[in-house]
Amino acid sequence: MNGHMRLVVLVSGNGSNLQAILDACESGVLASEVVAVVSNKHDVKALERAESAGVPAVVVSAVTGESRADYDTRLTSVVSSFMPDFVVLAGYMRILSMEFLSWFPGQVVNLHPSLPGDIVGVGAIEKAFAEFQNGTRDHSGVMVHFVPDEGVDDGPVLASARVEIAPNDTLEIFEEKMHRQEHELLVEVLRELSVKYTRVGEST
Ligand code: GAR
Repeated sequence: MNGHMRLVVLVSGNGSNLQAILDACESGVLASEVVAVVSNKHDVKALERAESAGVPAVVVSAVTGESRADYDTRLTSVVSSFMPDFVVLAGYMRILSMEFLSWFPGQVVNLHPSLPGDIVGVGAIEKAFAEFQNGTRDHSGVMVHFVPDEGVDDGPVLASARVEIAPNDTLEIFEEKMHRQEHELLVEVLRELSVKYTRVGEST
């Protein structure tokens, strides 16, 4: 692998986490290359970010009436054509089935804006903030985990970090804190994976 992990990043929207990965690759913080960005949606900012970085950007949009299995089979052929070492879900908002996951055992990593086992699914930041407003929460957090199966935002945790909600935080301020923490944690986890990968590469 020459010390460089090949990453395919799956996205659905803004792509600020994709940008953090691209920046870390560019600056040399991360000994990795984003070999493709795949989105299930057209016209999202993440695709522009990929294009600006000179990274192939592919859209695999769902066809009306298509089963999840059929979509994931199409997604598998696109992603596998880029021969990734890891597939990073950075704001990818579809649940992956085994039709996809069984092709990438131990290679799929998801970022989620909640501490492990706390809030799953879409809108985790908004849900945490609503609970803060109700007086039932004073923190949330972010995590990066492996995706071994169809469990939503669940799987062996690679790293997590707590994010406090300060009494004067607005949703915007809290969101900003969560995203800043995500960018840091995701790059750090990928850096650790790349170090392990380099060592494996050296010993074989
Ligand atoms: C991030 O907050 C990420 O953790 C979340 O989507 C956002 C994408 O932001 N993912 C999930 O909620 C997965 N369940 P980005 O497009 O700016 O990177």
